[in-house]
Amino acid sequence: MRHELELAYVGIQVPDPGGLSSFFGEVIGLVPGDEGPGGTITWRDDDRAHRVIIEPGPLGDASFVGLEAVDPGAFDAVADRLRGVGCELTVGTDDELSARRVSRLVHTAAPWGGRIELVEGLAAASSPFASPLVPGGFFTEGVGFGHVVFATTAFDESHALLVDGLGFGQSDWVEVELAPGLPLEVRFYHCNPRHHTIAIAKAPFDLPQALHHVMFETNVRDDVGLAFDRAWASGLGIPNGLGRHDNDAMFSFYVASPAGFQVEVGHGARVVTDDWDDNRRYDRISAWGHQALRQ
Ligand SMILES: [Fe+2]
Repeated sequence: MRHELELAYVGIQVPDPGGLSSFFGEVIGLVPGDEGPGGTITWRDDDRAHRVIIEPGPLGDASFVGLEAVDPGAFDAVADRLRGVGCELTVGTDDELSARRVSRLVHTAAPWGGRIELVEGLAAASSPFASPLVPGGFFTEGVGFGHVVFATTAFDESHALLVDGLGFGQSDWVEVELAPGLPLEVRFYHCNPRHHTIAIAKAPFDLPQALHHVMFETNVRDDVGLAFDRAWASGLGIPNGLGRHDNDAMFSFYVASPAGFQVEVGHGARVVTDDWDDNRRYDRISAWGHQALRQ
C-alpha cells in the first residue's frame, strides 16, 4: 500500500466559529488548538497544532481539506501526479503557510467543493494532547487525524482525482437502497492503513452542504460510550445511534453538529494492509445498530 499522505486537517467555514466551541469541546472532547488569524478557532485530537480549523464566513460547509505528505519526496511525488492529471496547483502564500502551520503548501480545487491542500510539516502543538473527556486519546499516529466524508454530484470526478491524482486506493464501496427508488452509493478511499481517509457519497442533486461527517477514532472503546452519553445529554440530533459498520467494522455513533454536518465518534475500525484484496461491494451500511435515534 502506498503511504504518502495522512489527513492533516479539515477547514470548515461557518458564520460564527465560536458557536461550535461547546460542540467540539464539550461533546466530542477535542481540545482547543492555537487561535488562527481573523477570528479562526481551531481544535485538535492529538499533539499537532490543529486538526479542525473553523473560519468565519458564509459558506456553512467544509472549505478545505489538508493532506500531509509524510516526507518531502512524497510531497513532490503527489504534486507531480496531480499536475500529470491536469490539476492546476497554486503555491500557498506565506500567510497561508503560517495560518495552516505548515512548511509547504500547494492547493487545487476539490471536485466536491472547496480546496484540497497538499501540505508538509504540520507543526506540533505547544503542549501534549490531553482531554479529560477522552482519557484514552485518539488514534492518529501514522493514520492522520480521522476521516472526512463528502456527498457530491461530482462522483466520478472525485474518484479520478483521489485515485489518479492523489494516489489513494479504493478500499471498498457500499450500494444500498435507503428506500424504494432512493439508492445510495458510497466509495471509500485509503492513503495509509486507516480504512478510509476520504469517502465520497453519490448525491442525486447538488446539496447545500457537501460535508457529511468528520470522524474521530478513540483509542479506547469506552470513550465512544462516554461521548455518546455527552451527545445524548446535549439534546443534539443523533442521526445514528451506536452500531458497527459492515465494511470498516467501526463501532461508532453519529451526532449532528449545530452547523448541520455530523461527527462520527468511533473505535476499532479494521486497517488496510499491504495485501488488501477486499475491495468489494457491501449491500448494507451497518452490521448492526446505527438506527436514527433523534432528529
Ligand atoms: Fe465515517
